[in-house]
Amino acid sequence: MDNSEFRKNQRIISDWIINYFKKIEQYPVLSSTEPSEIKKLLNSEPPAESRPIQDLLKDFDSFLFKGITHWNHPGFMAYFNSTSCEAGILAEFLIAALNLNGMIWKTSPVVTELEEVTIKWMKKMIGISDNFWGIIYDTASISTFHALASAREQLNLEIRDKGTSGRNDLPKLSIYCSEHAHSSVEKSAIALGIGQENVRKINTNYKFEMDTEQLRTQILSDFKQGMRPFCVVATVGTTSFASIDPVEKISELCKEFDLWLHIDAAYAGVAAILPEMKWITKGWENADSMVINPHKWMFTPMDCSIYLTKKKSVLKSAFSLIPEYLRTQEDDEVDNLMDYGLQLGRRFRALKLWFIIGNLGVAGIEEKIRNHITWARKFADWVSNHKNLILIAPVHFSTVCFQFKSDSISSVEESNFYNQKLLDLINSSGKIFISHTKFKNQLVLRLTIGSYWQEEKHIELAKKIIEESIIKLTENN
Ligand SMILES: Cc1ncc(COP(=O)(O)O)c(C=O)c1O
Repeated sequence: MDNSEFRKNQRIISDWIINYFKKIEQYPVLSSTEPSEIKKLLNSEPPAESRPIQDLLKDFDSFLFKGITHWNHPGFMAYFNSTSCEAGILAEFLIAALNLNGMIWKTSPVVTELEEVTIKWMKKMIGISDNFWGIIYDTASISTFHALASAREQLNLEIRDKGTSGRNDLPKLSIYCSEHAHSSVEKSAIALGIGQENVRKINTNYKFEMDTEQLRTQILSDFKQGMRPFCVVATVGTTSFASIDPVEKISELCKEFDLWLHIDAAYAGVAAILPEMKWITKGWENADSMVINPHKWMFTPMDCSIYLTKKKSVLKSAFSLIPEYLRTQEDDEVDNLMDYGLQLGRRFRALKLWFIIGNLGVAGIEEKIRNHITWARKFADWVSNHKNLILIAPVHFSTVCFQFKSDSISSVEESNFYNQKLLDLINSSGKIFISHTKFKNQLVLRLTIGSYWQEEKHIELAKKIIEESIIKLTENN
């Protein structure tokens, strides 16, 4: 591709993107393709000859586009939002063009150093001290994996060298988290050979917060049985209910029993950028590690997860393994980020943060997040005052959990039936997409706000669609 062709194609793609955002609300949020439908439309043989980008774009529109669930659609109100702002999109363009690999400092000093600078910015914005050192991984799941690996390394059980299999000198290790902790805690336990059943799920109170009395009882009982409790994961902004575990109390228990404290603030951590939300960071200083995902609520294109730890040297001793061909003269002076994790190769993710924070400014980011929280609270008030809806959890952030209610519903099964029907009616509108969770076998509907592209009118539209769906549901039954 020569320069003029590259320029032409780059403009075509830019125009495509601009047009996409102009028309995005015309598309149904959720893809309605059937399983395998897209695969069947595509050639099973790779093209032998070169095809122009314009041809590929035509096929993209004809065959691939229908398989898109539009995460950037302002009606996307499911799970937790992950949206990309203009600055993030442009940064990704540069990242792909440069294609840097910051596996070690020398292979592109800017990758390591901008990561350090942008993490420092993020700590300042959120209010986290410099006692924490940070690194960017792809996802929160991987950040939590590194936290648990570090916690295990700190036990000095020689697992790094000797492994766990065939050893009868090792105690059974156990991890603690609330029943609402993200599944990545269990997945990490599986991957680290700790075992899923040794992740103790602690019950929560009526506000969906971890019950610290039960946590204490479980830890004591496990010690008594010869196990080695070694880590607690507290969540600030749980996936199902966006609830907040009592971090300060949990940290006292961690201190008492010498346990690693990891905070999963993947979704909600960025809320603390707002002065009025700083209260959520109470007790964070006592943690050993934490994770915050800019790719959730800070408008950063997938992927970007910040892992912070006070135990940088433990992380290094868990993962550093330097082959001769990667040794450099600067090794004693710099951080080679391959030493702090499983992966060798490293994308230039910090450039996205640098572009986004630079372009929006802290004030711009604050304004977006503040609006989301305000709109969520207004939506929650609407739910609370609605005769057919009930608010299920406190709204600290931008996620609202609710249920359909009616005097005629007399069992959990009936409640689940009507709530599922309501969910399907809402999502079949194509204009918004909300998700669900379950608590004590009861289906709960979740609406989350947090998109870069959302305005208050979109929340009004969501209310209208929910109202119309309730009317349809009650008329038909
Ligand atoms: C609280 C929490 N932690 C961790 C994760 C996992 O995030 P990721 O997709 O970055 O691994 C999620 C995902 O929604 C989450 O809600």
